[in-house]
Amino acid sequence: MAFITIMILAVVGTFIQAVEPSGDLFKLECEPAVGIAAHTTVITCHFRGHEDIKISAVSLRKVGQNEPTFQHVIAQQQKIGDPRFSLKNPAKGPSLKINDTMFSDTGEFAYEIVTNRGKASAKFSFSVTAKYKDPIVSTWPQNVTEGGPTVLYCNATEGYPTGTIHWFDRYGTNWTINSILTKTTKDTYSSKSVALSSKLTFNSIDLSLAPFRCIVLNSKYIQDGEKTIQITPAKQDAEEMAESKSNKTNIIAGVMVIGSLIAGLLFALFFFRRGKEQNFLILNPDLNSHIKDQRVSLNVPIT
Ligand SMILES: *[C@@H]1O[C@H](CO)[C@@H](O)[C@H](O)[C@H]1NC(C)=O
Ligand SMILES: *[C@@H]1O[C@H](CO)[C@@H](O)[C@H](O)[C@H]1NC(C)=O
Ligand SMILES: *[C@@H]1O[C@H](CO)[C@@H](O)[C@H](O)[C@H]1NC(C)=O
Ligand SMILES: *[C@@H]1O[C@H](CO)[C@@H](O)[C@H](O)[C@H]1NC(C)=O
Repeated sequence: MAFITIMILAVVGTFIQAVEPSGDLFKLECEPAVGIAAHTTVITCHFRGHEDIKISAVSLRKVGQNEPTFQHVIAQQQKIGDPRFSLKNPAKGPSLKINDTMFSDTGEFAYEIVTNRGKASAKFSFSVTAKYKDPIVSTWPQNVTEGGPTVLYCNATEGYPTGTIHWFDRYGTNWTINSILTKTTKDTYSSKSVALSSKLTFNSIDLSLAPFRCIVLNSKYIQDGEKTIQITPAKQDAEEMAESKSNKTNIIAGVMVIGSLIAGLLFALFFFRRGKEQNFLILNPDLNSHIKDQRVSLNVPIT
């Protein structure tokens, strides 16, 4: 391995000596990048000042480390270093790709390239984030009583860096200010993660505001996940709700019966009057439209 490293460094060195210094005309630029843990990351780089540039060799080193993270001599098809690193497409440009991004990849990198036009180098910073898992929600008590004390929980784990959780009711009213967020950070060599737990407490809950929604936002305030909390009313409430529903049905049925009676009566009256006072009605379109309006409004509870 060490032998190969020395060989490749020698080859890279030869290339570096073989090409003339490029001056200010030719530049390598890389954008600072943010990768997602366990995903593939592309670090976008490009040349400035020249077109038609052919890459001969690249070397990527983490600032503060002696050994290169990754080296690739194109002509020889020789690669050394971390196998997760590669040139995205050597024929198209200097952009890099990291397979299976890890938290340990976080840092500042020095990138050197040898091309047919000369040598170029650039530095870029790289950081790693992790997406929060789908939130898990729960209520206390399990079955909620209308007007009773209630706690809603929304937990999201395995994210990084620290995000936050916001709360909304069915009308979109923001309840976040009434909630308490707890953050627990786990930090091991290979992974970092934060567990978020948000607690929204009601001394006296108004179930007409349900369902509630919690939204998990990452450190950049971009939504990572959301969940609607289905509230199970306690038995007594469930019965009351069903009862008031059936009461409503009765009331509606009553209104419908009375409505049709009134409508019938009005029609009878209308035709009776029409016979008697035809001219009056024709000369008074206002009264006509008034009767029409009544018909319309009487139809409402029936539909
Ligand atoms: C990265 O992953 C892709 C798809 O999984 C694979 O085709 C490619 O060979 C991998 N690259 C490296 C450098 O391991
Ligand atoms: C959410 O987290 C809180 C505090 O850690 C815990 O008391 C609660 O049981 C958790 N809820 C769920 C559904 O995991
Ligand atoms: C909650 O309600 C469900 C269904 O309404 C019932 O089966 C369950 O026993 C209730 N649980 C508690 C703790 O009251
Ligand atoms: C909800 O309230 C929180 C805390 O007061 C605030 O930070 C957030 O921006 C609000 N969200 C919306 C959509 O209004």
